[in-house]
Amino acid sequence: MIVTIDGPAGAGKSSIARQVADRLGFEFLDTGAMYRAVTLGAIWNNIDFQDVDALVAYVRSVNLKWHKNRISLNDTDVTNEIRTPTVTGAIHVLADLAEVRAQLSQQQRRIAEGRDIVTEGRDQGTEVFPDAECKIFLTASPQERAVRRQQQLAAAGRNVPIEDVIVSQNRRDEEDRSRPIGSLRPADDAVLLHSDGMTPDEVLQKALDIIAAAA
Ligand code: C5P
Repeated sequence: MIVTIDGPAGAGKSSIARQVADRLGFEFLDTGAMYRAVTLGAIWNNIDFQDVDALVAYVRSVNLKWHKNRISLNDTDVTNEIRTPTVTGAIHVLADLAEVRAQLSQQQRRIAEGRDIVTEGRDQGTEVFPDAECKIFLTASPQERAVRRQQQLAAAGRNVPIEDVIVSQNRRDEEDRSRPIGSLRPADDAVLLHSDGMTPDEVLQKALDIIAAAA
């Protein structure tokens, strides 16, 4: 069974998808980590971000591995390194390229082959797994997402003013929604889960109910 969870940044997709996968004994795939890893690799290799051919060739050449919730790039574990503001700010360049998306989508389908999996991202229900048995679009208001993000950053020792969180969140939302391919939007057959005012446990339970109804 394939369960897709798409939604905007800060909606809590990763933590819900991970918990759902744990509860159901499914694999979990964080596709954002794949976009992050190739972006980090392109930065490390000093690839010119204006040079589309070079970026595409780089993504084709790398060996990306997702194993037990960790991501490695040419056999180097980059799970922690991919979550920096520099990487986050640069991802859209690669994520906008059709060839890069095709390459990563193909790998995502290969990872899911023959497995029960919960996969989260932006385009999982629309482009990558249009025939998934269960599709959830997890969202929350911009205000609630920003507050949660600010709390996460504070927990990681970074105190960022809410205005700054909102500015970067708006930029990312706009980039994710306006992408020509793989843009952020709910699939026609996705169930919308709006998590404002819900506790994490309530969101988890609701997601499990949606999956049970689809199974
Ligand atoms: O989910 P996360 O915030 O880690 O994703 C980082 C970025 O990767 C997103 O803002 C988006 O630009 C890109 N992405 C994508 N398609 C996906 C997952 C992530 O374009 N399926």
